[in-house]
Amino acid sequence: EKGGYDTFMEKEIHEQPHAVGDTLLGRTDEAGHLVLDELRISEEQLKAVDRITIVACGTAAYAGMVAKYAIEHWTRIPVEVALAHEFRYCDPIVSERTLVVSISQSGETMDTLMAVKHARDLGALTVSVCNTHGSTIPRESDAVLYTHAGPEIAVASTKAFLAQITACYVLGLYLAQLRGGSYADDAHAVLKELQEVPDKIEKLLGDLDRVREIARFMADTRSVLFLGRHVGYPVAMEGALKLKELAYIHAEGFAAGELKHGPIALIEPGQPVFIVVPGPDTPHGLHGKVVSNIQEIRARGARTLVIAQEGDTAVEPFADEILRVPATSPMLAPLLTVVPLQVFALELSTAKGLDVDQPRNLAKSVTVE
Ligand code: BG6
Repeated sequence: EKGGYDTFMEKEIHEQPHAVGDTLLGRTDEAGHLVLDELRISEEQLKAVDRITIVACGTAAYAGMVAKYAIEHWTRIPVEVALAHEFRYCDPIVSERTLVVSISQSGETMDTLMAVKHARDLGALTVSVCNTHGSTIPRESDAVLYTHAGPEIAVASTKAFLAQITACYVLGLYLAQLRGGSYADDAHAVLKELQEVPDKIEKLLGDLDRVREIARFMADTRSVLFLGRHVGYPVAMEGALKLKELAYIHAEGFAAGELKHGPIALIEPGQPVFIVVPGPDTPHGLHGKVVSNIQEIRARGARTLVIAQEGDTAVEPFADEILRVPATSPMLAPLLTVVPLQVFALELSTAKGLDVDQPRNLAKSVTVE
């Protein structure tokens, strides 16, 4: 049942090219345009959307954070991400032109379900991004966009996360397509690139020996920090969450720009820090800014574990370790950069002799509030 792997998580990490590929499959026509009749929301209604709120918990909320950057950039529709358990109680501002997108692997998370019901009661349009057919959240929503990751058994999410991000990209690109003009042209180009990502993940998965080795030597580590910027910020948060869940190690993810506003005080000699580096062609010179961050923490003794695109030589002088990922366009990078972090957490958990698939105190789906 584990397909020759030691754990479900290892198996599921290796299924990620399919999770992304299958989530894209069958959603384009011959001309390469997105077709989402399955949504059963009229184009008119979708075109009228002037605000999007994403509700989710845990890993799914980090997928939502990635989606915010992408959807806002592609559509210019404002997107807000709310933790589902906060959303209900914060007197949310919602109208019939608000699209509330819930993200849930199980479709049963009570916090997320209650947020969806609340949004619906307030008159919003609700779309569920969900991995489980026939589950409660899709039934309680106006529409559903299924992720096709296949059943996820390990409690901590991996392949569902990639599929969730992919589905949100599809939704964002579809909204851009509906807007037409240059929005649609840009969406078309991004979609083509997105279709190349599964092969890149496959390649990356064959290339992760070094991160495994690094993890095995870190079984005694008490704290690991993760820095990222732009779409790399939620990836840093997810890397930290995976480490907490699987290896019970104190871990924190930060926005790299926030470093100088506080977290840099945590840097002392030997402190391991993962840095998710944006690709060199990320707008606004963000790549250079993150490289400077690496330099700053290295000068204070941090052990810098750098996740960078192939061919990015600028990071080399400041990296204790470089973990390479294939190049892709800036918005799509999370589908690649998170993979070494998943494998790091898995391997460190294994090195500590822990139960990777069933971490203590956690449940796959939390059906109480
Ligand atoms: C947590 C799980 O309880 O719920 C996480 O441990 C998951 O892995 C989160 O990300 C949300 O679950 P779901 O099913 O709503 O995506």
